[in-house]
Amino acid sequence: MNVLVTGGAGFIGSHLVDRLLADGHHVTVIDNCVTGRPENVAQHADRPGFTFLRGSVLNETLVAAVCREVDLVFHLAAAVGVTHIVKDPLWAIVTNTRGTEIVLKRAFENRVRVVFASSSEIYGQSDAVPFDEDGPRVLGPTTIHRWAYSTSKALDEHLCWAYADKGLAVSAVRYFNIFGPRMDPAGYGSVIARFVTQALAGEPLTVHGDGRQSRCFTYVSEAVTATILAGTHDGALHEAFNIGHPQEHTIEHLAERVIALTDSPSTVTRVPYAEVYGPSFADTRRRVPDVTKAAERLGFRAHVTLDEGLAAVIAERAAAAERAR
Ligand SMILES: NC(=O)c1ccc[n+]([C@@H]2O[C@H](COP(=O)([O-])OP(=O)(O)OC[C@H]3O[C@@H](n4cnc5c(N)ncnc54)[C@H](O)[C@@H]3O)[C@@H](O)[C@H]2O)c1
Repeated sequence: MNVLVTGGAGFIGSHLVDRLLADGHHVTVIDNCVTGRPENVAQHADRPGFTFLRGSVLNETLVAAVCREVDLVFHLAAAVGVTHIVKDPLWAIVTNTRGTEIVLKRAFENRVRVVFASSSEIYGQSDAVPFDEDGPRVLGPTTIHRWAYSTSKALDEHLCWAYADKGLAVSAVRYFNIFGPRMDPAGYGSVIARFVTQALAGEPLTVHGDGRQSRCFTYVSEAVTATILAGTHDGALHEAFNIGHPQEHTIEHLAERVIALTDSPSTVTRVPYAEVYGPSFADTRRRVPDVTKAAERLGFRAHVTLDEGLAAVIAERAAAAERAR
């Protein structure tokens, strides 16, 4: 197949590109590298069947031209990371809603199937754990910028289903805390990236809040598998899927595991949310996927444990630190 991956120079996108090329597909990437990095796909630069277009999904002419040439679109380009969104909500809202509408519209015109990368963030502060795909979304007030990300991803899903009504073949994958090599080392997107960087430097691990909030960490290769299934399985059409590991870990426990696995002298420091994100920040306490639908419809279940995934991230970071010395 000829495949477009928007956001293909990003963390998850670049792993998806690796897999699609290894499976023999031709891949075009559109990425403006606002958070992604060209190095993530540089290994494919001279490979026949790979095209990297540095540009924006907001460039409708570019998206339209590529959609005429492909059979399948994985739409991952987005404003990502709570820190980024809180800092510049206008950019996040425009990128995520207008960008997605452009991609869906051009895919629809060319009868191209789409997988949209959504997020566990859309459930917000719901306490109906584990979250099932048809469960409630509970969000705070619109004056709190962090909810703009959740709202933009939910609106994007509404756009997906609106285009589906018109005949677009589309599915959504709701990722739950994906982690693995190539995460932003500054840790914008992931607490794991931040903790590993801090532990390897022997600095204190900064736990936001009381540390008893929990997440389900999902290894990137498994997110890639699920994403491709969502783009190729007939049973996936016009559906949203939770893509996550069902095992829940508190952030406190995560910090302990990172310190143990890096054999680091680091300690743990607690930092109030307000100090990191400003006074009106709201976090979500638990975020646990109900994985039944992905298992039944896609035959997908995540298996890689937190410790196994952490070992891969630590090895990557340790090698990078060694090279920098
Ligand atoms: N990592 C996670 O745990 C997670 C969880 C839920 C959802 N997601 C979603 O998965 C997708 C990939 O996220 P990621 O974690 O790989 O983050 P990422 O920041 O590495 O990837 C996003 C990519 O989109 C690109 N991009 C941003 N604006 C663009 C634009 N206007 N035009 C073209 N490219 C643009 C960035 O440069 C980056 O490469 C995103 O849609 C994100 O919302 C990720």
